[in-house]
Amino acid sequence: MNKKEELDVLQKQIEDNLVCELKDAAMNMVFGKGNSNADIVFIGEAPGAEEDKTGVPFVGRAGQELNKLLRKIGLTLDDVYICNILKYRPPQNRDPNMDEIRNHTPYLIQQIKIIKPKIIVTLGNYSTKFVLAGFDPEGMKKVKGITVLHGKENPILVDGVDFNVIPMYHPAAMLYNPRLREAIEQDFLIMGKLLSLEAVPKAEGQGTLGHFL
Ligand code: URA
Repeated sequence: MNKKEELDVLQKQIEDNLVCELKDAAMNMVFGKGNSNADIVFIGEAPGAEEDKTGVPFVGRAGQELNKLLRKIGLTLDDVYICNILKYRPPQNRDPNMDEIRNHTPYLIQQIKIIKPKIIVTLGNYSTKFVLAGFDPEGMKKVKGITVLHGKENPILVDGVDFNVIPMYHPAAMLYNPRLREAIEQDFLIMGKLLSLEAVPKAEGQGTLGHFL
């Protein structure tokens, strides 16, 4: 099976086996979207109203901003893979509760292990704390906030697999706070550099995104 087929099987398992009350209120499952062979996976918190309607993550304004930021480093949403911790929208976009997160976590870890990206970008405070706590909601309180962590590399080991995590502000945040735009743009350039450094042997100097070096 290729990665796309493995992801399809996983999606079906969530449909059939995930126990979660959010399923009843949601219109659609929002599993994930993009390139299943991507080097970068973006993880957001949970689908919003637009995503619930369409079944596709980041189709609303936050997604449009994300696409603009990706274009600045020569990528689009189709080059990366994007998903959320929760696959179903919490009513009125309320914060996910511990049970919801716990029930979803094994599927998210499985999704990441199928794709095996070099970089995981966590979007926003919630996703950052969750991933840096080792996908353990109980450990989230011990992780520093996005203001301190954004744009910095964090190597982590999940279920025996290594990933480099780069926290970023959620693209929706800069819609409400334009001062964050500059910070987010800088973080995308850092990610572009890191991606190109990891893509080629360092001695060769230039990577696929070499123009950012
Ligand atoms: N915000 C998120 O975190 N995820 C989405 O899919 C949309 C908005």
